[in-house]
Order: sequence, then C-alpha cells, then structure tokens
Amino acid sequence: MAERIYVGADHAGFQLKGQLVDELKRLGYDPVDVGPEAMDPADDFPDYGRPVAEAVSTGKVRRGVLTCGTGLGMAYVANRFPRVRAAVAWSPEIAELARKHNDANVLVLPARFVSEEEGLEILHKWLDTGFEGGRHERRVAKIDS
Ligand code: RB5
Repeated sequence: MAERIYVGADHAGFQLKGQLVDELKRLGYDPVDVGPEAMDPADDFPDYGRPVAEAVSTGKVRRGVLTCGTGLGMAYVANRFPRVRAAVAWSPEIAELARKHNDANVLVLPARFVSEEEGLEILHKWLDTGFEGGRHERRVAKIDS
C-alpha cells in the first residue's frame, strides 16, 4: 500500500505545495493535501501546519511535508506537537542529516528560498534517507522525555 503523507502550506508555499503533491504522486506515495485549496494571500500558516503535525503526532501517518515562506513558522507550529520532529531544510545535505541524525518526520521547505528544482531534490533526499540510529537514537528519545 502506498505510504500516505500529509502535505500543507500557506500562501507563500502554495505553488511549491502543488509541485510537491504532484511529485509525491509520481513517486507512488499517497499525498493528502490539507490545503489551502486556493491561493489566498491572507491565509495563516498555523491553520495548515496543525493538521499535518497532528496527523504525524497521533501516528495517523508516519510523515508530513510543510512549506511556507521561510519554513520557520511551519516548524514552530509542527514542533509543538509531541513526537513531531520538523526540520527546515534548504539543501539536500540538511535534509539528509535531518533524517540520519534527527529522524525528522516532517520536512519543512522554505519556499521563498529554494527553487522548485531544489525543493524537489530536497524532498527526494528526505524521502530516501533512513535514520542512522545508534547514538542518535538516545538523543532523539530525549527530545520527548
Ligand atoms: C508569510 O508572508 C510568511 O510570513 C510565512 O510564509 C512564513 O515565512 C512564516 O514563518
């Protein structure tokens, strides 16, 4: 069965969100787009960050993807939820380390600071990199302790 991945954005990430959803589908995932459905310059990132973070936090899905202008607002929201480890990644290397060392279960893309091509490259790296475990396991466990 295809892995379900929740995806959300605000107006600044709206366009990139569409590309991320299309790419996830192309790769065989089952993306659930929590919105926004249309471009609205007055929308607020917490309204779309929360449903994604909640789905990951409760274990409904394993992973989520969020995007806003800097990535910061979405990360603030998502990281308030227990068991959510949201990483703002602006390069494939950051995404790789966020997976290997932090077991990041939410990827946050700064839409105003990455091109579409970079965004998709970062997404691929995050999707395809596993958690290294070992000494990182203990550190990750301490986040929620
Ligand atoms: C919206 O203008 C912008 O503030 C938002 O997308 C995000 O960057 C907030 O952290």
